[in-house]
Amino acid sequence: MSPRDDLLPRGPLTAPGLARIRGRIWGLEKQLIGEVSRLGLGQPDTIALWYGESDQPTPAFICDAAYKAMRAGETFYTHKRGLPELRQTLATYMAGLYGVPMDMERITITMSGMAAIMLSFQALLDAGDNCAIVAPVWPNCSQGTEVMGAEPRRVALELENGVWRLDTQRLMDACDERTRAIFVNSPGNPTGWMLAADQQREILDFCRRRGIWLVADEVYARLVYDRPVAPSFLQVAEPDDPLLVVNSFSKSWAMTGWRIGWLTHPVWMGETISSLIEFSTAAVSVFTQRAGIAAVSEGEPFVAAMLARCRAGRDTVVPRLQAMPRVAINPPSAAFYAFFKVDGVDDSLAFAQEIFHKTNVGLAPGSAFGPEGEGSLRLCFASSPERLNRAMDLLEPMLR
Ligand SMILES: Cc1ncc(COP(=O)(O)O)c(C=O)c1O
Repeated sequence: MSPRDDLLPRGPLTAPGLARIRGRIWGLEKQLIGEVSRLGLGQPDTIALWYGESDQPTPAFICDAAYKAMRAGETFYTHKRGLPELRQTLATYMAGLYGVPMDMERITITMSGMAAIMLSFQALLDAGDNCAIVAPVWPNCSQGTEVMGAEPRRVALELENGVWRLDTQRLMDACDERTRAIFVNSPGNPTGWMLAADQQREILDFCRRRGIWLVADEVYARLVYDRPVAPSFLQVAEPDDPLLVVNSFSKSWAMTGWRIGWLTHPVWMGETISSLIEFSTAAVSVFTQRAGIAAVSEGEPFVAAMLARCRAGRDTVVPRLQAMPRVAINPPSAAFYAFFKVDGVDDSLAFAQEIFHKTNVGLAPGSAFGPEGEGSLRLCFASSPERLNRAMDLLEPMLR
């Protein structure tokens, strides 16, 4: 049980007086990927593989759509839930991808996948509630619950013969009367693990029975190597189910810097999400949304090229890691991360910092993804084989 918000020590006194920030916010853990990346972010000789992004800039046809809209004067306030045209484009896209009917009233454009996660938590979690989270997981997901004063209840994946699996019973057992949501990120960051369709049904049924929301983070849905698309909760759910699905333009369309994503929700949630947007970002800029329309309606060849780039990256990095006696890794079947354990490492943050100092190669420490990740490192392989081979040449003496 996490301590009550009002019992936590508040932040220290500010210099001139008595104003303090919330104790819960003061106590948030540092972002450990940032503890490595601040050593060399933006330096020209850094090979940065610490963040979840490709080395490719956004393709020109997407940039052009934004530029054209800007030049045409599309620079005003706009619909809080997003341009109807983009929402309809996404409804058609998801209906085609998953073979399910999709009403655009279920779709709200958000200022990134992270914003979609936070809107979900703002809508669902009160202080003192809890949210069961499958881990290891991108830290922002669990820390988002803490910002709300809620408790993240981690349920660890198990590694069986090198393959990550979820014991759904343990996930359900972690829930109690204060559980308001289950958060599942599949395909998962950092593991590349994917839920199977029968597990999705089981979790969804449990949520229906218990009146618990399911927040499904599916931002890596298109980055899958062993099938056309990752199983989505949208394929097993009814439109009115207690399900929120988080998506993003960042990964498949190389748009990490644009800050645009979307949330799929029951139709009746639209007004709630709309008012939360009113009190935060007000909307996503129109020209960014025009870029989003171009990405979805003309971007399939780019998505295919991005997947090919990631597959080549995976096939460059994983065999080289597997050849190192201290490293344990199986090729991930989704997402774009090599998440590997290194024998003898018990402080992955210190090790990632040491690696950066000695090689200029930036990796994320496994501990950034929770205690389950300690002893591991995460490398994003969404880069060219040449860049990755250069990084591996430098890393080899330290990992062997
Ligand atoms: C699991 C997961 N969810 C959500 C996001 C958020 O993506 P963005 O805020 O760039 O849309 C990320 C980014 O790394 C992620 O790894």
